[in-house]
Amino acid sequence: MANDRPLSGDSVAIARRYMDRLLVESRVVGAQRPTSRVTLFGHPFETPITTGALSHLKPGMTAFAEGARQAGAACFIGMGSCDELENALKTNAKIIKIIKPYADPDEIYRRIECAERGGAIAIGMDVEHAANVQDDQDSVVMGFQMKQPTLDELRQYIRSTRLPFVIKGALSVTDARTCLDLGAQGIILSHHNGLMRWAVPPVMLLQDIRKAVGSQLTVIADGGIQDGFDAFKALALGADAVSVGRPLMGPLEDGGPEAMADTLRTMTGELRAMMLRTGSRDVRSIDPSVIHEVNW
Ligand SMILES: Cc1cc2nc3c(=O)[nH]c(=O)nc-3n(C[C@H](O)[C@H](O)[C@H](O)COP(=O)(O)O)c2cc1C
Repeated sequence: MANDRPLSGDSVAIARRYMDRLLVESRVVGAQRPTSRVTLFGHPFETPITTGALSHLKPGMTAFAEGARQAGAACFIGMGSCDELENALKTNAKIIKIIKPYADPDEIYRRIECAERGGAIAIGMDVEHAANVQDDQDSVVMGFQMKQPTLDELRQYIRSTRLPFVIKGALSVTDARTCLDLGAQGIILSHHNGLMRWAVPPVMLLQDIRKAVGSQLTVIADGGIQDGFDAFKALALGADAVSVGRPLMGPLEDGGPEAMADTLRTMTGELRAMMLRTGSRDVRSIDPSVIHEVNW
C-alpha cells in the first residue's frame, strides 16, 4: 500500500487504510429514493447495518438489544450467560447469539438451547477467538477455557440446532467454502479487532468470497465500519450486511438504547445517501463497479 507509515501488523489500522483507498463514483442523474430494507435469515430489517457481537457492555446486553430493536436492526450478541441472553430476548429484538468456542461442549449446547428457547433468530460461533494472539495455544476468555473446534465438532453444533448457524471469523475464500460445506447459513468476515495480526481486510475479500459462494451464504463484513459510507463500500463489494461494534458502545453507555438506535439510524441515513447518489434502488442492486480503488 502506498503509504510510508508502517502498520506493524495492526490489522485494525490495515483495514482502515484499505477502506480509505476506496472511492465511489456518482450515478445520480435520474436517481430515485432508495430503500435500505433487507431480509436476513428470513427476517425483515430496516437496515443492513447490524450490531457487532459485543459483550461486557455498559449498561448491559438488554439495553444493547433494545437499541437494536428500536433501530430495526439485527442484533448480534457476544459472550454472556443464559440469563443475560434471555433478558435481552425479552425486548423482542431479533437476536443472533454468537457463542464462544468453549472447550466444554456442554457450555456450547447449553447456550444453543437458551437461544432456541428464548426465540433467537440464529446462532453462531466466533471461531477466531479459540486461539491466543501470540502463540498456537487455546485461549482462556473470562476464565473459560476455549478450544479450536474440529470440523466434526462444528458440523455437530450446526446439525444440533434448527436455527441458522453463522460462523464468525471466516476470513478467506477457503474458509467460506468450508463453512458452506459444513452447513452454515452465514459467515462473518472478521479478525476480531486484530486478534490475527497482518490480517487481510475483510472488505478486501468480499468480491472473491461472493464469487465463490454465490447467494448460498449470508456474508457479513465486520471490523472498522465507522459510518454508513463505510457500510456502503462493503455492501457494494458483496456483503449482505455489515456489523458495527465499537462505534455503538459510547452512545449506548452515554445515552442508553435511544442514543444507540439514533447512531444506527444516522449510519443508515448515510448509507441511503450514498445509495441515492449511486443510483442504487436497494442494497442488493448496488453495482460493485461504482467503487474505485486508488493507491494513495
Ligand atoms: C468490548 C468488546 C467485546 C466483544 N465481545 C465479543 C464477543 O463476545 N464475541 C464476539 O464474537 N466478538 C466480540 N467482540 C468483537 C466484535 O464482535 C467485532 O468483531 C470487533 O469489535 C470488530 O468490529 P468493530 O470494529 O465494529 O468494533 C467484542 C468487541 C469489543 C470491542
